[in-house]
Amino acid sequence: MAQARIAVLASGRGTNLQALLDACADPGASAEVCVVLSNRATAGALDRARAAGVPAAAIPTTSDDGSALLVLLDRHAPDVIVLAGYLKLVPQSVVQRYPGRIMNIHPALLPGFGGRGMYGRHVHEAVLAAGVRVSGVTLHLIDEEYDRGWILAQWPVPVRPDDTAETLAQRVLEVEHQLLPRAVLAAAERFGRTGTIVPLSPAGEGFSVGGRPRIDLST
Ligand code: GRF
Repeated sequence: MAQARIAVLASGRGTNLQALLDACADPGASAEVCVVLSNRATAGALDRARAAGVPAAAIPTTSDDGSALLVLLDRHAPDVIVLAGYLKLVPQSVVQRYPGRIMNIHPALLPGFGGRGMYGRHVHEAVLAAGVRVSGVTLHLIDEEYDRGWILAQWPVPVRPDDTAETLAQRVLEVEHQLLPRAVLAAAERFGRTGTIVPLSPAGEGFSVGGRPRIDLST
C-alpha cells in the first residue's frame, strides 16, 4: 500500500513532530512526513525536520491570505496535514483546498479549554483554575475556527492536586507523543484505503473512557 504523505505545520520546538518522524521511520509505517512548514524561521521543528532529511521551510510572512502557504503545501502534494503546535489560524483558502484532511493536536479534552488564546500554558492554567480532575489530549479535524471540528481521538490524563501548569503540561505532553503518531498513522492507513480521513470509531473517537478503543492505545 502506498504511504500517505503527511505535511506538518509547527511553530515551536517540535517534540510532537519528532514523535511522528520517529514513528514514520519504522519499516512498514503507513505514512511519511513529506514536508515541515513553520511560521517561525527559528522554530526547532524545522531543525528536527532537516535532521531527519525532510524538506523544511519557513512560510513567508508577507501574505496573510494563505497563498504562500498553499503554494508550499501544493508543491509537496500532501494527503494529510498535521498541525503540531501551529499557533496561527489556518487560512480559509487552505482549509477549503484540503477539506477534512487537516488535523490538529490540542493539549486538553476539547470542546473544553480550547479556542482563541488557548495554547501552551494558558490551557493548563485554565484546566487547573476550573478544578477538573481529568485533562487530556485531543486530535481533531480543523475548520475555520480555533480548536473546533470533528474529534478523531482523545486520551485522558489525570490532574493531580499538587499539579502546576508545568507539571500538568509535561504529563499531557508525554501522552501527546503516544497518541499523535498512533492516531495519525491509523488515520493515514485508512486514508490510503478510502481517500478520506474517517473517524477512528463511529462515535468519532479513537478512545473514550468506558468505551471500547478501536485502536490499541494502551501502554
Ligand atoms: C503541544 O502541547 C500541542 O498540543 C500544542 O502545542 C504544543 C506543541 O509542542 N498544540 P511541541 O512543539 O510539539 O513540543
